[in-house]
Amino acid sequence: MTANRIVAIDGPAAAGQGTLARRLAACLGLPYLDTGLLYRATARRLLLAGADASDAAAAAEAARALSPPDLERTDLRTPDVDRAAAAVASVPPVRAALLDFQRSFGQANGAVLDGRDIGTIIFPQARAKLFVTASVEARAYRRWLELTGRGVHAALETVREDMQARDAADASRAAAPLRPAEDAFVLDTTVMDADAAFAAALRYVAARV
Ligand code: DC
Repeated sequence: MTANRIVAIDGPAAAGQGTLARRLAACLGLPYLDTGLLYRATARRLLLAGADASDAAAAAEAARALSPPDLERTDLRTPDVDRAAAAVASVPPVRAALLDFQRSFGQANGAVLDGRDIGTIIFPQARAKLFVTASVEARAYRRWLELTGRGVHAALETVREDMQARDAADASRAAAPLRPAEDAFVLDTTVMDADAAFAAALRYVAARV
C-alpha cells in the first residue's frame, strides 16, 4: 500500500518545510516533490501570457498546459510569482488540474511531498503527516535572508506584509484552505534550527514509514 510510503508535509510559507522535506527524502530514499512549484509554474505561465492573476479561466488553462520544463525555470521565486501563485492556488479548476500529477507522483514508489493540502486532500490516507509552522516574523526573516542571498532586494517589512497577506489567502480560501490534518504532527520551528527540526521530524516519520 502506497500510503505507507507517503510523507505529507504541509505548513505556511517559509516555515522550513522545503529543507526538511528534501532531507527526509534523501534520508529515506524516497522521491521528493515540492508541490508549490506547480502553482508557481502555473502563475509564471499566466504572467508570461500577459493574463491577470485573477483570471480563473486563463489560470486553469495554464495549469493544464504545464510541462516538466516549466518546473525548472529559475524565475519561480520572485515576489510577483509569490503573489500570482497565491491567487491561482485559490482557483478550484487549477487545483483539480494539478491533483492527478501529485497523486501519480507518489503512487508508484512512495514519496515525500510538501505543500499546503498534502495531508488533507492529496494523500489523506498518508501515515506520516507533518505540519511545519513558525511565527510570521521568523518566516518573513528567513524569506528575506533567502531573497537577499539571491540578490533580490526587498524591505523586511514588505516581505512580512506580503507573507501575512499570503497566509490569510491560503487559510481563508474556499478551495483546500491551509490547515493541519487532524492526525498531523505539528512541528513549530520558530526557535529551532534546521538540524533540530530535521531530528524531530525524522523521529516521528521513521516510526511510521
Ligand atoms: O510553498 P510555496 O510558497 O512555493 O507555494 C506557492 C503558492 O502555492 C502558495 O500561495 C501556496 C500555494 N500552494 C497550495 O495552495 N497548495 C500546495 N500544495 C502548494 C502550494
